[in-house]
Amino acid sequence: MKIGFIGAGKVGTAMGIFFKQNSLTLSGYLSRSETSSQGAADATDATIFSDLPSLVTASEVIFITTGDDQISAVINQLVQTSCLTEQHTLVHTSGALSTDLFDPLLTSGCGLCSLHPIMSFSDPFTAAQNLKQTVFTLEGNEKGLAEVQRILQITGNPYSVIDKGDKVLYHAAACILSNYLVTLIDSGFELLKSTGIATDEIVRAFMPLISATLSNIERSGTVNALTGPLVRGDENTISKHIEALKTQAPEFLALYQTMGLATIEMIKDKRIDAETYDHLKNQLK
Ligand SMILES: NC(=O)c1ccc[n+]([C@@H]2O[C@H](COP(=O)([O-])OP(=O)(O)OC[C@H]3O[C@@H](n4cnc5c(N)ncnc54)[C@H](OP(=O)(O)O)[C@@H]3O)[C@@H](O)[C@H]2O)c1
Repeated sequence: MKIGFIGAGKVGTAMGIFFKQNSLTLSGYLSRSETSSQGAADATDATIFSDLPSLVTASEVIFITTGDDQISAVINQLVQTSCLTEQHTLVHTSGALSTDLFDPLLTSGCGLCSLHPIMSFSDPFTAAQNLKQTVFTLEGNEKGLAEVQRILQITGNPYSVIDKGDKVLYHAAACILSNYLVTLIDSGFELLKSTGIATDEIVRAFMPLISATLSNIERSGTVNALTGPLVRGDENTISKHIEALKTQAPEFLALYQTMGLATIEMIKDKRIDAETYDHLKNQLK
């Protein structure tokens, strides 16, 4: 099985390095710029292609690892080459987009699959390292799924298969878990800065709390991991928080209220009774 990549950015390069480390065979790279193709080819000891027909002819599995907005255009260019056969499998790695993008190839007999690595990619070598622990989410036609599952069996990565109609919601969830977690932590840091604590001291003092919270979630689940005034039903403390935010940091009040309301929904009838829930809801509204 020879694997070719269209798009030599962070994901394309990291996956190429990772596949190579797992003794899979790469055909090579074709990117928009020769510099990117060359960088990925150097990192993986693979070839550079200068046109799509050469890449298609040399590859059995073709990964389209361009940005989301370029995938459709690449698929249309691939159709125009008339080089694709039933022996080919096409894969893209977008989290939000499904194999619907491959509609122009529905009658081609090709394997079609979307394969989303649940990982954040920065520099390709670190990302290739992280790929060892990465779980993938896939959906596609029978042939595409079988071919990609074969690759993941070789690399030893776990995966789950998702309905293509759920991909956007799935990706919105991934955004909350990764991107908005960063935003949430940044908001807490900003609030702490307004109390005069230095940034490096905030990181030093609060990262252990954040890490312990994440470990607790992993060990006991979200509902059981929750600590603090809401789960204790400390209404006076919540009132004080709201008053302080209103007067000293009103820009964080809406976030505090929204997160508080989401928190009491999570623990209602599990860790707080209906009466406490009603009181807290009135305070947070
Ligand atoms: N980054 C992440 O953390 C992450 C995580 C999971 C999934 N993904 C998905 O993985 C895919 C790639 O993301 P990325 O972060 O690797 O993006 P990226 O670093 O921006 O790389 C995209 C590459 O595609 C190349 N490209 C653009 N248009 C092209 C075209 N028409 N033909 C050939 N090459 C083209 C660009 O080329 P040049 O450099 O040559 O200009 C660039 O190197 C996306 O679908 C994204 O949603 C990303």
